[in-house]
Amino acid sequence: MDTRVTQLAELDLRAWSAERLGRVELALSTWVASDAPAGLGQAMRYAVLDGGKRLRPLLVLAAAEAVGGNMQAALRAACAVELIHAYSLVHDDMPCMDNDVLRRGKPTVHVQYGEASALLAGDALQALAFELLTPDDGSVPEAMQAQLCRLLARAAGSAGMAGGQAIDLASVGVRLDEAQLREMHRLKTGALLQGSVLMGASCGALTTAERDALSTYGAAIGLAFQVVDDILDVTADSATLGKTAGKDAEQDKPTYVSILGLERSQRYAQELLAQALAALDASGLADTRALRALADMVVNRAS
Ligand code: IPE
Ligand code: IPE
Ligand code: MG
Ligand code: MG
Ligand code: MG
Repeated sequence: MDTRVTQLAELDLRAWSAERLGRVELALSTWVASDAPAGLGQAMRYAVLDGGKRLRPLLVLAAAEAVGGNMQAALRAACAVELIHAYSLVHDDMPCMDNDVLRRGKPTVHVQYGEASALLAGDALQALAFELLTPDDGSVPEAMQAQLCRLLARAAGSAGMAGGQAIDLASVGVRLDEAQLREMHRLKTGALLQGSVLMGASCGALTTAERDALSTYGAAIGLAFQVVDDILDVTADSATLGKTAGKDAEQDKPTYVSILGLERSQRYAQELLAQALAALDASGLADTRALRALADMVVNRAS
């Protein structure tokens, strides 16, 4: 049964994603303008365009569709989350953090444009994310704008991605226990994925039970995403990943693979997928097919 569901999910996802990805790419290309001073716009566009799975934007759109949400707001939210994600990657790759030279199949932003430009491109992408969420053309009600900003700020800041990155850097060479590792992953990666789901949901009206179910779904796939990222760092090659494989062991980072081993990590990712799907089943939402397919992609992806 699992195989059949997976095949259906993949088939659905490809057809469903194509149109949404087109809209996201066009919107990002329009909103991340090249005319920022002194080459900053070029560095920003280099960081965001032509690459990446766009998983977070797809989660925003899928959640918004599941609740019958305002799709103009959802497109802005989808792009805003991707800008925060892209900024986090630019900074993550810098010499003061993971010191990586390859990202999305290209030289990293600091290799291409220099460290100061990479730092500023990240800063500017973060600010642009919040600008996108606050249009003054009446297309997004102000209460919804505020809620989207609140969710994104929380997911990106010290209680989310930035906090998790701080733990990551403080944990080099440290043997974390499983609970500590889970907390690090929940913050550095899980928060923005869960935030994507909640932002999409916030583009519509939903009951507390529906929100709680989507929150549980988002937490499960958010953690699963980083568990799989840790697995792929060991099992995949750089060409497939578009980033340098084997970095975690080389830099002595605590990961699911280093703490649980490969097999238990793989089993844990599948358990989290089951939790995510169970939350959707319990949500009472009418059509969760895209969210199901995206969860499947998070856990069973090759890159
Ligand atoms: C990589 O994220 C960084 C992590 C949070 C683990 P993705 O695997 O989503 O990267 P792109 O967007 O597809 O390049
Ligand atoms: C990065 O985690 C998480 C971010 C918030 C960017 P990693 O350092 O494992 O991401 P990759 O493997 O470089 O993409
Ligand atoms: Mg890192
Ligand atoms: Mg890294
Ligand atoms: Mg990684």
